[in-house]
Amino acid sequence: MRDDQETGPGGSGGTGAADADRALLGRIRAAPVLAGPLPRFDPEQAPAAPGPLLAGWLDRALADGLPEPHVMTLSTATPGGTPSARVLMLRGVDSAGCAVVFAGDARSGKGRDLAANPLAAATFYWPAHGRQIRLAGPVAVLDAEAAWRDFLGRSPASRAAAFTGTVSAPLGSPQEYARERLAAEALVSAEPDRVPEWHTVYRLRADEAEFFQADPDRGHLRLRYTRQARAEGGWSRTLLWP
Ligand SMILES: Cc1cc2nc3c(=O)[nH]c(=O)nc-3n(C[C@H](O)[C@H](O)[C@H](O)COP(=O)(O)O)c2cc1C
Repeated sequence: MRDDQETGPGGSGGTGAADADRALLGRIRAAPVLAGPLPRFDPEQAPAAPGPLLAGWLDRALADGLPEPHVMTLSTATPGGTPSARVLMLRGVDSAGCAVVFAGDARSGKGRDLAANPLAAATFYWPAHGRQIRLAGPVAVLDAEAAWRDFLGRSPASRAAAFTGTVSAPLGSPQEYARERLAAEALVSAEPDRVPEWHTVYRLRADEAEFFQADPDRGHLRLRYTRQARAEGGWSRTLLWP
């Protein structure tokens, strides 16, 4: 990687920054998007419930070897409405319930948001397929057994990372991290079954699910499912203008 990719082509600012931003914009506009060929999607043939479609699109992304198809963006908000989003790894899918499972630290930004405001949105995007899925709904914390199973299935490095410092808190220096990390690695090898009390598994049960199939000519297809409150297991389907 070149240095200017680390600091930006304008360096740390100054008189050249506006020129560099213009040059960057030129390169952004020239970058290809939705180049295709893209898979087909027929909303008329879509299932009555979104869970099987979610599982099907994920399965196709995995089968086609797309990079990191199980990485999604999770958006949360404080009770006051301040949003934040970050990428996370998908830890499970419940296609009958149209739910996704993810895991993280209860002390993190998302953990604090979800404790106070248990609603979230999850977004998948697979550029090579031109497919986006948006899910939104309430988030529940799964029980301690789910947290143990999830945590103890991880590599020693991943477990040590979870015991290192406090996620999203200010870090004094890289040396401080290195010291804490060594202590965490020693803890994990001495107590391989230890699970941090902050490790949490969450389940987002979608009340809305939107499937977006891009078209290189921009005639994109969008299908939104909305869970029907009165008919358990029922969903309405709506086409949306792209
Ligand atoms: C590819 C990738 C996968 C990640 N997976 C997770 C994950 O499964 N759980 C998690 O808590 N953080 C994961 N992270 C880190 C988060 O993006 C984020 O930095 C962290 O959760 C703290 O964010 P928060 O304070 O907003 O909650 C991942 C980051 C990347 C780049």
